[in-house]
Amino acid sequence: MLSKIATRSFSSSQAAAYKVTVLGAGGGIGQPLSLLLKLNHKVTDLALYDLRGAPGVAADVSHIPTNSTVKGYTPEQLSEALTGSDVVVVPAGVPRKPGMTRDDLFNTNASIVRDLAKAAADYAPNAAILIIANPVNSTVPIVAEVFKQKGVYNPKKLFGVTTLDVLRASRFVSEIAGTNPVNEKVTVVGGHSGITIVPLLSQTNHKGLDVETRDALINRIQFGGDEVVKAKDGAGSATLSMAQAGARFTGAVLDGLAGEKDVVEPTFVDSPLFKSEGVEFFSSKVTLGVEGVKTIHDLGELSDHEEELVKLAKETLIKNIQKGVEFVKQNP
Ligand code: NAI
Repeated sequence: MLSKIATRSFSSSQAAAYKVTVLGAGGGIGQPLSLLLKLNHKVTDLALYDLRGAPGVAADVSHIPTNSTVKGYTPEQLSEALTGSDVVVVPAGVPRKPGMTRDDLFNTNASIVRDLAKAAADYAPNAAILIIANPVNSTVPIVAEVFKQKGVYNPKKLFGVTTLDVLRASRFVSEIAGTNPVNEKVTVVGGHSGITIVPLLSQTNHKGLDVETRDALINRIQFGGDEVVKAKDGAGSATLSMAQAGARFTGAVLDGLAGEKDVVEPTFVDSPLFKSEGVEFFSSKVTLGVEGVKTIHDLGELSDHEEELVKLAKETLIKNIQKGVEFVKQNP
């Protein structure tokens, strides 16, 4: 650790030297995510772990000439993959098949995430933990409970990755408005499943959409994942767009850790916004900083319709969060 601090303060070219660990690197998301992280110059040590296939993925992406070392780890080497890590990204777990909701994944993914969280708590207790594995509304509370049990919970370092909803919102709104999606910034709040996904269109240039168009757009953002699940016809859910979303969010967390200013992304975090109503975790715009979460922003001004959507989202979130907490209590 000392040498890392020394390196950071003495050499500007190595100022941003970070170890990033991907748990589930051999999967549909894990592989392209690992590729994109290899292209991020802040990542100097890329650790790829999976139950199967990680050494192969590592050998493959390691040939890309960017300034990072890449190593693949087998199940016996989980502790090594995590030790010294600054950021741990978790796309491990089963994806949806047609007809499934994210909640249907709970039974399988809850124990995968719990076990990986235990290892992260033991070997990378200070790392930022980025959860992609679904159902995010429940898997993030699972990680929090495990870290609490191990006495190392830091709410500033735990994130549910909701960036894909933000990407979809930009893209889908641009298709309606005939604009360049690159310039479309849509804040998406709430959680990451169905009606808990609430895009705040009233805060964009498109608040004047007629009700029918607006409702269809919101529905598409909330259930956009289903389009991919259906088109893949049993072969899984979003992997490539999710990899892009995961790489963007990981990049934002690294930018924050590196002390860059005004790094803001919506993300699902331990949030004070609606705690008094029993909603322990909530996604809203978060400024990322050297310690992880720097500022959790409130929702800003909402339309009456958005107020209603947020109310509905909170009702579902309370149940989803409770389910994760209960799981760890019953299955420590
Ligand atoms: P996949 O099945 O292609 O890959 C999952 C990988 O996880 C596999 O390589 C598997 O070996 C690995 N794995 C399973 N258990 C593990 C363990 N205990 N330790 C390490 N690795 C383990 O699935 P895909 O498509 O990559 O999806 C992964 C997860 O991401 C799913 O839960 C999916 O629902 C979720 N997802 C989340 C999104 C989001 O917006 N947050 C969007 C899309 C998918």
